[in-house]
Amino acid sequence: MSWIREGELNLIERISANILKAGPMPKHVAFIMDGNRRFARKKQMERQEGHMQGFNKLAETLRWCKNLNIQEVTVYAFSIENFKRSQNEVDELMVLAKQKFEKLLEERENLEKHGVCIRVLGDLNMLPLDLQQLIAKAVVSTKTHNKCFLNVCFAYTSRYEITNAVREMAWGVEQGQIKASDVSEALLSECLYSNNSPNPDLLIRTSGVRLSDFLLWQTSHSSVFQSVLWQEYSFWNLCEAILQYQLNHTSIQKARDLHREHQAFVQLEADRACVAEHLQHHGNGKPADARRRQEALQHYTTCREERIHDFLEALQNRRDSYYNDLLSDAVVA
Ligand code: FPP
Ligand code: MG
Repeated sequence: MSWIREGELNLIERISANILKAGPMPKHVAFIMDGNRRFARKKQMERQEGHMQGFNKLAETLRWCKNLNIQEVTVYAFSIENFKRSQNEVDELMVLAKQKFEKLLEERENLEKHGVCIRVLGDLNMLPLDLQQLIAKAVVSTKTHNKCFLNVCFAYTSRYEITNAVREMAWGVEQGQIKASDVSEALLSECLYSNNSPNPDLLIRTSGVRLSDFLLWQTSHSSVFQSVLWQEYSFWNLCEAILQYQLNHTSIQKARDLHREHQAFVQLEADRACVAEHLQHHGNGKPADARRRQEALQHYTTCREERIHDFLEALQNRRDSYYNDLLSDAVVA
């Protein structure tokens, strides 16, 4: 089964999709695809077959999303917690991932035709080297595609991602690239694995009611829990989740705007405090007038933005060279 499923919606699906599209549509949807093993038990099939069918459902869901003009999808494919499962199951999931990333590489032309960019979010170091190399090939070969985006969270948990982001900022401070006072909510967001994506508008979890350490930072506004097992997920379940999103849209928007305003206020206050301290130390005991304070604030903000820009560029270079090293090792091997 390939990643890209061709095909349009049928007539009744198309009519329903058009009705939904008359309202506000989520641009980015995240899925916790849960229930694979329960489905396998229910259908008396091998566990691995259950996971395989889970992948097939993902491909089908991506087709629906494409038809609904949802340009970005993020999925929880393998949690760091999943390493605690039996060695047998972990190995099976790694084999499935290898098969699917190999398939993805065979489908490169099709991915290019549809403009699909694949990103993998997580700590790849935890994975077998051959899988890391396949992932690097998939990510690097699709990174310039920009019509739709699929983020596969693999060897991922949200706490790990946030801790890693804090570590990245500590590295920046240690290297003298940023100051401790530059650390902010916005900067932390930029250091997450998800830094290239807007936050999901909608998080959907099947057959469970927990967030399971998934995108905790990025999805504070809209989650929908659906009791259906992932393999039984249907176009109509997706429509129902979108409808719920639309019903809550005004309050979601309001909460988001308020949060954005609050963040800007906090940043301004932090900048003002830094500038006030600087002026006190360099002002020969004389209080600065309003114009001087404003100029100093402007200068400080510009310098901070430049520092952060350079730091984030260094971070991106580090991430790029990680992939490039994997690719050159793959060529040598
Ligand atoms: C959760 O169901 C699902 C997983 C741990 C694996 C999800 C993986 C896929 C759907 C395949 C995707 C693969 C790629 C390469 C993108 P569960 O095993 O927790 O089932 P349960 O809740 O019924 O026990
Ligand atoms: Mg589960």
